[in-house]
Amino acid sequence: MSGPALWSRAAAVAAALALASCDLPGRPGPEPEVLRPEQVLDFATLYSQNCAGCHGAAGKGGAAVSLADPVYLAYADDATVRRVTANGVAHTLMPAFAQSAGGMLTDKQIDVLVRGIRGWAGAAAPGGIKPPAYTAAAPGDAARGAAAYQTFCARCHGPDGKGGSGGHSIVDGSFLALISDQGLRTAVVTGVPGRDAPDWRSDAPGRPMTEQEVTDVVAWLASQRTQFPGQPYPSLNTTHGGKQ
Ligand code: HEC
Ligand code: HEC
Repeated sequence: MSGPALWSRAAAVAAALALASCDLPGRPGPEPEVLRPEQVLDFATLYSQNCAGCHGAAGKGGAAVSLADPVYLAYADDATVRRVTANGVAHTLMPAFAQSAGGMLTDKQIDVLVRGIRGWAGAAAPGGIKPPAYTAAAPGDAARGAAAYQTFCARCHGPDGKGGSGGHSIVDGSFLALISDQGLRTAVVTGVPGRDAPDWRSDAPGRPMTEQEVTDVVAWLASQRTQFPGQPYPSLNTTHGGKQ
Protein backbone atom coordinates (compact mmCIF):
# COMPACT_ATOMS: atom_id res chain seq x y z
CA MET A 1 0.00 0.00 0.00
CA SER A 2 1.20 3.43 -0.85
CA GLY A 3 1.67 6.05 1.82
CA PRO A 4 -1.53 8.02 1.08
CA ALA A 5 -3.63 4.84 0.84
CA LEU A 6 -2.37 3.63 4.22
CA TRP A 7 -3.12 7.02 5.66
CA SER A 8 -6.69 7.11 4.38
CA ARG A 9 -7.27 3.59 5.69
CA ALA A 10 -6.06 4.55 9.10
CA ALA A 11 -8.36 7.56 9.00
CA ALA A 12 -11.31 5.36 8.00
CA VAL A 13 -10.62 2.97 10.90
CA ALA A 14 -10.34 5.86 13.31
CA ALA A 15 -13.62 7.31 12.04
CA ALA A 16 -15.34 3.93 12.35
CA LEU A 17 -14.05 3.53 15.90
CA ALA A 18 -15.23 6.98 16.80
CA LEU A 19 -18.68 6.26 15.39
CA ALA A 20 -18.88 2.87 17.05
CA SER A 21 -17.84 4.22 20.39
CA CYS A 22 -20.63 6.77 20.24
CA ASP A 23 -23.13 3.98 19.82
CA LEU A 24 -21.87 1.84 22.69
CA PRO A 25 -24.78 1.25 25.03
CA GLY A 26 -24.40 2.76 28.49
CA ARG A 27 -21.78 5.20 27.40
CA PRO A 28 -22.27 8.52 29.18
CA GLY A 29 -23.45 11.44 27.10
CA PRO A 30 -21.28 14.44 26.39
CA GLU A 31 -22.05 15.95 29.85
CA PRO A 32 -19.88 14.68 32.70
CA GLU A 33 -21.93 12.76 35.28
CA VAL A 34 -20.53 14.64 38.23
CA LEU A 35 -20.92 18.41 38.11
CA ARG A 36 -18.00 20.55 39.10
CA PRO A 37 -18.80 22.29 42.39
CA GLU A 38 -19.32 25.65 40.73
CA GLN A 39 -21.82 24.11 38.26
CA VAL A 40 -24.26 23.02 40.98
CA LEU A 41 -27.31 25.27 40.64
CA ASP A 42 -29.87 23.17 42.47
CA PHE A 43 -31.13 24.98 45.57
CA ALA A 44 -31.69 21.85 47.69
CA THR A 45 -28.16 20.62 46.99
CA LEU A 46 -26.50 23.99 47.58
CA TYR A 47 -28.45 24.53 50.79
CA SER A 48 -27.85 21.08 52.23
CA GLN A 49 -24.14 21.14 51.39
CA ASN A 50 -23.43 24.64 52.67
CA CYS A 51 -26.05 25.80 55.14
CA ALA A 52 -28.12 22.98 56.66
CA GLY A 53 -25.45 22.03 59.20
CA CYS A 54 -25.98 25.31 61.05
CA HIS A 55 -29.38 26.60 59.88
CA GLY A 56 -31.15 23.23 59.99
CA ALA A 57 -32.61 21.00 57.28
CA ALA A 58 -35.12 23.10 55.32
CA GLY A 59 -34.16 26.19 57.30
CA LYS A 60 -35.54 25.14 60.69
CA GLY A 61 -34.39 23.53 63.89
CA GLY A 62 -30.67 24.32 63.53
CA ALA A 63 -28.34 26.00 66.02
CA ALA A 64 -28.37 29.24 63.96
CA VAL A 65 -31.23 31.49 62.77
CA SER A 66 -34.27 29.71 61.27
CA LEU A 67 -34.13 31.14 57.77
CA ALA A 68 -37.46 29.54 56.79
CA ASP A 69 -39.31 31.27 59.62
CA PRO A 70 -42.02 33.53 58.10
CA VAL A 71 -41.21 36.17 60.74
CA TYR A 72 -37.54 36.12 59.71
CA LEU A 73 -38.50 36.37 56.04
CA ALA A 74 -40.78 39.34 56.75
CA TYR A 75 -37.96 41.02 58.71
CA ALA A 76 -34.93 40.49 56.41
CA ASP A 77 -35.13 41.50 52.76
CA ASP A 78 -33.44 39.81 49.80
CA ALA A 79 -30.54 42.26 49.78
CA THR A 80 -29.79 41.40 53.41
CA VAL A 81 -29.93 37.64 52.89
CA ARG A 82 -27.67 38.03 49.85
CA ARG A 83 -25.16 40.31 51.59
CA VAL A 84 -24.81 38.06 54.63
CA THR A 85 -24.59 34.88 52.54
CA ALA A 86 -21.92 36.45 50.35
CA ASN A 87 -19.84 38.20 53.02
CA GLY A 88 -20.61 36.32 56.23
CA VAL A 89 -20.70 38.00 59.64
CA ALA A 90 -17.27 38.94 61.01
CA HIS A 91 -16.31 37.44 64.39
CA THR A 92 -19.15 34.91 64.34
CA LEU A 93 -19.56 31.38 62.98
CA MET A 94 -21.30 32.66 59.83
CA PRO A 95 -18.81 32.13 56.98
CA ALA A 96 -18.43 34.23 53.83
CA PHE A 97 -19.54 32.13 50.83
CA ALA A 98 -18.89 34.41 47.83
CA GLN A 99 -15.72 33.76 45.85
CA SER A 100 -15.15 37.52 45.98
CA ALA A 101 -15.00 37.22 49.77
CA GLY A 102 -12.78 34.13 49.82
CA GLY A 103 -15.63 31.59 49.76
CA MET A 104 -16.47 28.82 47.30
CA LEU A 105 -19.74 29.94 45.69
CA THR A 106 -20.29 31.90 42.48
CA ASP A 107 -22.65 34.90 42.30
CA LYS A 108 -25.06 32.69 40.37
CA GLN A 109 -25.08 30.11 43.15
CA ILE A 110 -25.71 32.80 45.73
CA ASP A 111 -28.68 34.00 43.62
CA VAL A 112 -30.06 30.46 43.70
CA LEU A 113 -29.70 30.33 47.48
CA VAL A 114 -31.37 33.71 48.01
CA ARG A 115 -34.29 32.80 45.72
CA GLY A 116 -34.69 29.40 47.38
CA ILE A 117 -34.64 30.83 50.91
CA ARG A 118 -37.14 33.50 49.87
CA GLY A 119 -39.28 30.76 48.32
CA TRP A 120 -39.73 29.22 51.78
CA ALA A 121 -42.00 32.14 52.65
CA GLY A 122 -44.31 30.72 49.98
CA ALA A 123 -47.96 30.37 50.79
CA ALA A 124 -47.17 29.97 54.49
CA ALA A 125 -46.36 33.66 54.89
CA PRO A 126 -49.03 35.01 57.20
CA GLY A 127 -50.33 38.36 56.06
CA GLY A 128 -49.92 41.47 58.11
CA ILE A 129 -46.63 40.68 59.87
CA LYS A 130 -44.75 43.91 60.16
CA PRO A 131 -41.71 43.26 62.31
CA PRO A 132 -39.41 45.98 63.61
CA ALA A 133 -36.97 47.24 60.98
CA TYR A 134 -33.93 45.08 60.29
CA THR A 135 -31.57 47.94 61.07
CA ALA A 136 -32.11 50.08 64.14
CA ALA A 137 -33.26 53.57 63.11
CA ALA A 138 -32.08 55.22 66.35
CA PRO A 139 -29.22 54.30 68.68
CA GLY A 140 -30.04 52.03 71.60
CA ASP A 141 -29.89 53.05 75.25
CA ALA A 142 -28.57 50.35 77.58
CA ALA A 143 -30.18 51.83 80.71
CA ARG A 144 -33.63 51.92 79.11
CA GLY A 145 -32.84 48.45 77.75
CA ALA A 146 -32.30 47.15 81.30
CA ALA A 147 -35.85 48.23 82.12
CA ALA A 148 -37.23 46.70 78.92
CA TYR A 149 -35.36 43.51 79.83
CA GLN A 150 -37.30 43.32 83.11
CA THR A 151 -40.62 43.81 81.31
CA PHE A 152 -40.09 41.40 78.45
CA CYS A 153 -37.34 38.89 79.20
CA ALA A 154 -36.74 38.41 82.93
CA ARG A 155 -39.61 36.00 83.43
CA CYS A 156 -37.73 33.42 81.33
CA HIS A 157 -34.04 34.42 81.35
CA GLY A 158 -33.95 35.36 85.06
CA PRO A 159 -33.69 38.74 86.83
CA ASP A 160 -30.19 39.52 85.50
CA GLY A 161 -30.10 37.49 82.27
CA LYS A 162 -28.05 34.67 83.78
CA GLY A 163 -30.75 32.11 83.11
CA GLY A 164 -34.08 31.24 84.65
CA SER A 165 -36.81 28.65 84.59
CA GLY A 166 -37.78 29.45 80.99
CA GLY A 167 -34.48 30.18 79.24
CA HIS A 168 -30.68 29.90 79.42
CA SER A 169 -28.18 32.65 80.21
CA ILE A 170 -28.02 35.32 77.52
CA VAL A 171 -25.29 37.38 79.21
CA ASP A 172 -22.66 34.63 79.30
CA GLY A 173 -19.38 36.05 77.96
CA SER A 174 -18.74 33.16 75.61
CA PHE A 175 -22.28 33.32 74.17
CA LEU A 176 -22.00 37.06 73.59
CA ALA A 177 -18.54 36.66 72.04
CA LEU A 178 -19.97 34.55 69.21
CA ILE A 179 -23.02 36.58 68.26
CA SER A 180 -23.13 40.00 66.58
CA ASP A 181 -25.35 42.87 67.74
CA GLN A 182 -27.39 42.30 64.60
CA GLY A 183 -27.64 38.61 65.52
CA LEU A 184 -28.98 39.64 68.94
CA ARG A 185 -31.54 41.88 67.25
CA THR A 186 -32.64 39.02 65.02
CA ALA A 187 -32.98 36.76 68.09
CA VAL A 188 -35.15 39.35 69.88
CA VAL A 189 -37.34 40.01 66.83
CA THR A 190 -37.83 36.42 65.68
CA GLY A 191 -37.36 34.42 68.89
CA VAL A 192 -36.47 30.80 68.21
CA PRO A 193 -39.39 29.16 66.42
CA GLY A 194 -40.49 25.84 67.88
CA ARG A 195 -38.44 26.26 71.09
CA ASP A 196 -40.57 28.39 73.42
CA ALA A 197 -38.58 31.53 72.67
CA PRO A 198 -41.24 34.05 71.62
CA ASP A 199 -40.88 36.65 68.89
CA TRP A 200 -41.14 40.39 69.62
CA ARG A 201 -44.95 40.21 69.78
CA SER A 202 -45.31 37.71 72.62
CA ASP A 203 -42.57 38.26 75.19
CA ALA A 204 -45.05 39.97 77.48
CA PRO A 205 -48.70 38.91 77.27
CA GLY A 206 -50.80 41.25 75.19
CA ARG A 207 -48.07 43.79 74.44
CA PRO A 208 -45.62 43.62 71.52
CA MET A 209 -42.24 45.30 72.00
CA THR A 210 -41.89 48.67 70.32
CA GLU A 211 -39.06 49.09 67.86
CA GLN A 212 -37.19 51.29 70.36
CA GLU A 213 -37.57 48.65 73.08
CA VAL A 214 -36.03 46.06 70.76
CA THR A 215 -33.13 48.41 70.03
CA ASP A 216 -32.63 49.25 73.71
CA VAL A 217 -32.70 45.65 74.94
CA VAL A 218 -30.05 44.80 72.33
CA ALA A 219 -27.94 47.72 73.58
CA TRP A 220 -28.29 46.37 77.13
CA LEU A 221 -27.26 42.84 76.04
CA ALA A 222 -24.31 44.25 74.07
CA SER A 223 -23.22 46.21 77.18
CA GLN A 224 -22.80 42.87 78.99
CA ARG A 225 -19.98 41.79 76.66
CA THR A 226 -16.68 41.16 78.46
CA GLN A 227 -13.22 41.93 77.15
CA PHE A 228 -11.93 38.44 77.89
CA PRO A 229 -14.81 36.02 77.50
CA GLY A 230 -14.56 32.98 79.73
CA GLN A 231 -11.99 34.69 81.99
CA PRO A 232 -11.32 34.56 84.83
CA TYR A 233 -12.09 30.97 85.63
CA PRO A 234 -14.59 31.23 88.51
CA SER A 235 -12.61 28.73 90.63
CA LEU A 236 -9.34 30.66 90.08
CA ASN A 237 -10.85 34.00 90.94
CA THR A 238 -9.22 34.16 94.39
CA THR A 239 -5.84 32.63 93.56
CA HIS A 240 -4.93 35.80 91.65
CA GLY A 241 -5.97 38.07 94.46
CA GLY A 242 -9.37 38.52 92.84
CA LYS A 243 -7.83 40.58 90.03
CA GLN A 244 -9.47 40.23 86.60
C1 HEC B 1 -20.87 27.24 60.63
C2 HEC B 1 -22.24 27.64 60.81
C3 HEC B 1 -22.96 28.35 59.69
C4 HEC B 1 -23.05 27.98 58.36
C5 HEC B 1 -22.41 26.79 57.67
C6 HEC B 1 -23.94 28.94 57.74
N1 HEC B 1 -24.34 29.87 58.66
FE1 HEC B 1 -25.54 31.47 58.30
N2 HEC B 1 -25.27 32.10 60.21
C7 HEC B 1 -24.57 31.43 61.20
C8 HEC B 1 -24.58 32.21 62.42
C9 HEC B 1 -23.95 31.81 63.74
C10 HEC B 1 -25.29 33.39 62.13
C11 HEC B 1 -25.55 34.57 63.08
C12 HEC B 1 -24.38 35.54 62.98
C13 HEC B 1 -24.59 36.76 63.85
O1 HEC B 1 -24.29 36.69 65.05
O2 HEC B 1 -25.02 37.80 63.33
C14 HEC B 1 -25.71 33.28 60.74
C15 HEC B 1 -26.44 34.25 60.07
C16 HEC B 1 -26.97 34.10 58.79
C17 HEC B 1 -27.85 35.05 58.16
C18 HEC B 1 -28.31 36.38 58.74
C19 HEC B 1 -29.32 36.23 59.84
C20 HEC B 1 -29.77 37.60 60.28
O3 HEC B 1 -29.59 37.94 61.47
O4 HEC B 1 -30.31 38.33 59.43
C21 HEC B 1 -28.14 34.56 56.92
C22 HEC B 1 -29.03 35.20 55.86
C23 HEC B 1 -27.44 33.30 56.78
N3 HEC B 1 -26.73 33.06 57.94
C24 HEC B 1 -27.47 32.51 55.66
C25 HEC B 1 -26.69 31.37 55.49
C26 HEC B 1 -26.64 30.63 54.25
C27 HEC B 1 -27.46 30.92 53.01
C28 HEC B 1 -25.73 29.61 54.45
C29 HEC B 1 -25.24 28.61 53.45
C30 HEC B 1 -24.76 29.11 52.17
C31 HEC B 1 -25.23 29.74 55.82
N4 HEC B 1 -25.84 30.82 56.40
C32 HEC B 1 -24.31 28.90 56.41
C33 HEC B 1 -23.95 30.22 61.05
C34 HEC B 1 -23.77 29.54 59.86
C1 HEC C 1 -41.27 32.62 77.32
C2 HEC C 1 -39.86 32.60 77.68
C3 HEC C 1 -38.92 33.56 76.98
C4 HEC C 1 -39.02 34.93 76.92
C5 HEC C 1 -40.13 35.84 77.45
C6 HEC C 1 -37.80 35.38 76.25
N1 HEC C 1 -37.03 34.31 75.90
FE1 HEC C 1 -35.24 34.39 75.00
N2 HEC C 1 -35.20 32.39 74.83
C7 HEC C 1 -36.10 31.53 75.46
C8 HEC C 1 -35.69 30.16 75.21
C9 HEC C 1 -36.39 28.91 75.69
C10 HEC C 1 -34.52 30.23 74.42
C11 HEC C 1 -33.68 29.06 73.89
C12 HEC C 1 -34.23 28.55 72.60
C13 HEC C 1 -33.38 27.40 72.09
O1 HEC C 1 -33.57 26.28 72.55
O2 HEC C 1 -32.52 27.66 71.25
C14 HEC C 1 -34.24 31.64 74.22
C15 HEC C 1 -33.17 32.12 73.49
C16 HEC C 1 -32.77 33.43 73.48
C17 HEC C 1 -31.57 33.92 72.86
C18 HEC C 1 -30.53 33.08 72.14
C19 HEC C 1 -30.90 32.90 70.72
C20 HEC C 1 -29.81 32.17 70.00
O3 HEC C 1 -29.49 32.60 68.89
O4 HEC C 1 -29.28 31.18 70.52
C21 HEC C 1 -31.52 35.26 73.07
C22 HEC C 1 -30.43 36.23 72.62
C23 HEC C 1 -32.70 35.61 73.79
N3 HEC C 1 -33.46 34.47 74.02
C24 HEC C 1 -33.02 36.88 74.19
C25 HEC C 1 -34.23 37.24 74.77
C26 HEC C 1 -34.59 38.60 75.08
C27 HEC C 1 -33.68 39.79 74.91
C28 HEC C 1 -35.86 38.55 75.56
C29 HEC C 1 -36.72 39.71 75.95
C30 HEC C 1 -36.94 40.73 74.94
C31 HEC C 1 -36.27 37.15 75.58
N4 HEC C 1 -35.25 36.39 75.08
C32 HEC C 1 -37.52 36.71 76.01
C33 HEC C 1 -37.21 31.89 76.18
C34 HEC C 1 -37.66 33.19 76.33
